Amino acid sequence: MAIVGVIGYGNMGRAFALGLAKKLGYENIVAYDLEEEKRKLAGEDGIPFAKELHFLLDMSDYVLIAVKPKDIKELLKKLTNLKGKILVSIAAGVSIKDIEAVVGDQKIIRCMPNINVLVSGGSIAYSHNHNVTEEELREFVELFSSCGVLYRIDESMMDSFTALAGSSPAYVLSFIDALALAGVREGFSYREALDITLNTLIGTAELLKQLKGNPNEWITKITSPAGTTIEGIKKLEEKGFRGIVMECIEATTKKAKSLGK
Ligand SMILES: NC(=O)c1ccc[n+]([C@@H]2O[C@H](COP(=O)([O-])OP(=O)(O)OC[C@H]3O[C@@H](n4cnc5c(N)ncnc54)[C@H](OP(=O)(O)O)[C@@H]3O)[C@@H](O)[C@H]2O)c1
Repeated sequence: MAIVGVIGYGNMGRAFALGLAKKLGYENIVAYDLEEEKRKLAGEDGIPFAKELHFLLDMSDYVLIAVKPKDIKELLKKLTNLKGKILVSIAAGVSIKDIEAVVGDQKIIRCMPNINVLVSGGSIAYSHNHNVTEEELREFVELFSSCGVLYRIDESMMDSFTALAGSSPAYVLSFIDALALAGVREGFSYREALDITLNTLIGTAELLKQLKGNPNEWITKITSPAGTTIEGIKKLEEKGFRGIVMECIEATTKKAKSLGK
C-alpha cells in the first residue's frame, strides 16, 4: 500500500489528505505544515502528522506539495532523498521545468485540482515528466480518483485548466450568490433563495450529465416562444454574459501564466 506525504495542510492539502485517506486508510497518509494550528487540525481529522519534514520524506512513496506558489521554491530546496518517490505538485503556475530546476531529474507529476476535492468531487488535471512510467501513472490515477475526476492534459493547457476548473468554483459561487440575491429582491429570504438556487443548479447539472446533449438544446426546450425565459436570456445577452465569462477565464489564464515567470 502506498504512503502519501502531504506538505502544507491548508485548504487543498487537507482536502487531498482526507480524500486519499478514504482510499488508502488514515494510517497511510502523513501530513506536515509549519503552523502549530495545522498540526492540531490534522490531529482532529485523524491524519498522522510528521514533527519534522524528513520523517515525512523517509516514509512517503508520494510527496504531495500543497503550499502556495510563493513558498514552493524554498520548500523544494529541502526535498532531498526523493529517489524513486513521486513528487506531486498542485501549485498554480509552477511548471514541471521549474520544479526540475530545483530538485533535478526526479519523478514529477504536476496537477491542477479545485476545492471540490473536499467532497471527493474535484476536477483534477495532471501532466508528468519522462521519469514517470505508464504503470506509475495508472496507480496515481487509481489513488487520486478518490479525490475527483482526473484529466490527463498537455502541460501547455495547465494554465487554461487552472482558470476553467481550478478557479472557476469561485465564479460558480458568485453566480449562485447573484441568483440568491435576485431571489431576495423578489421577496424570498436569502436562506430560501439560496436553497432554491442550489437545488436548481444541482438539478440542471444532473440533467446535462444524465441526459447529455448540448446546453443550447436544453435552453431551446426551456425557452418557449414569446415566453418568460427569453426575456431573461435577452437581458443576459444585452449585458454580454457569455463574453464576460470568456473574458473572466482569459484573465485568470493570463494571471496563472504570469505566476510561473
Ligand atoms: N485553494 C484552491 O482552491 C486551489 C485550487 C487549485 C490549486 N491550488 C494550489 O494549492 C496550493 C495550496 O493552496 P491552499 O489554498 O491550500 O493554500 P493554504 O491554505 O495557504 O495552505 C498552504 C499551507 O502550507 C503551509 N506552508 C507554507 N510553506 C510551507 C513549508 N515550507 N512547509 C510546510 N508547510 C508550509 C502554509 O503555512 P503558512 O500559512 O504559515 O504559510 C499553509 O498552512 C497552492 O499552490 C495553490 O496554487 C489551490
